[in-house]
Amino acid sequence: MKPVLTIDGPSGSGKGTIAARIALDTGWMLLDSGALYRLTGLACDRKDIDLEDEPAVAEVARNLDVEFDQTEGSTRVLLEQVDVTATIRTEKVAALASRVAKLPSVRDALLQRQRDFAAEQGLVADGRDMGTVVFPDAPAKVYLTASAEERAKRRVLQLKEQGEKVDYETILADIKARDDRDMNRTVAPLKPAADAIEIDSSKLSIDEVIQRVERLLIEKGLIK
Ligand code: DC
Repeated sequence: MKPVLTIDGPSGSGKGTIAARIALDTGWMLLDSGALYRLTGLACDRKDIDLEDEPAVAEVARNLDVEFDQTEGSTRVLLEQVDVTATIRTEKVAALASRVAKLPSVRDALLQRQRDFAAEQGLVADGRDMGTVVFPDAPAKVYLTASAEERAKRRVLQLKEQGEKVDYETILADIKARDDRDMNRTVAPLKPAADAIEIDSSKLSIDEVIQRVERLLIEKGLIK
C-alpha cells in the first residue's frame, strides 16, 4: 500500500499549512482536496452554471481541467491554463465551494481524481473526508481542530495580509456557519475517522503540531 497521511479538520485549523510543511519535509506529494471543490465552484461561476443544477455541476467537476504545479513549498493552481492560485482563496469562492461540496454527485465525480494523487513516494491528503471516505485505509490519520475563535483570529490576519477588508465578528459567524454545514451535511460530513489521532492546535505553534504529526509517521514506520 502507498503511504498516505490524511489530515482532516475544519477550515482555519491550520491543515493547509501543516500539510504543505509535512509534504516539504518528507518529499511526499500533496493533495489539497478543498482546492478541487473551490475550482469546481469557480468553474461553474465562470460558465454561468446554476449551483442548484446538480447534474450540470457534477459534469463540470468530472471534466475539470486543472493543474497543480508543486514547487518547493508552494503550489500554483491552473484552471483551463489560467493561474487562479489567489482567486480560489477568496471568501466568494469559499462560499461557492461550500455549496458544491454538499452535492453527492459532485463528491462522487471528484473521488477517483483524489485517489489518483496517491503516489509511491507518499501523499499528504488535506480535507474533510480524507480519512473517512477518500483514503479509509490510510496508515496515518490526523484530525486537526482549533476553537472557532482562534480560527477566526487567524483568518482575519490572513485576509488582512491579502488586502481584504474584514470584520472579526462577521468572520467568526461565517466560520461557525460553515462548520455547521460541513459537520451536519448528509454526505461525507466532517468528523474524525475512528482511527485518527486528534490534535487541537488552538494553543500549539505550527512547529509543535508538525512535531506531533511527524512523531505519528515515525511510529507508523512511514518515515525514519
Ligand atoms: O478546505 P477548504 O476551505 O479549501 O475547503 C473548501 C470547501 O470544500 C469547504 O466548504 C469544505 C469543502 N471540502 C469538502 O467538503 N471536502 C473536502 N475533502 C475538502 C473540502
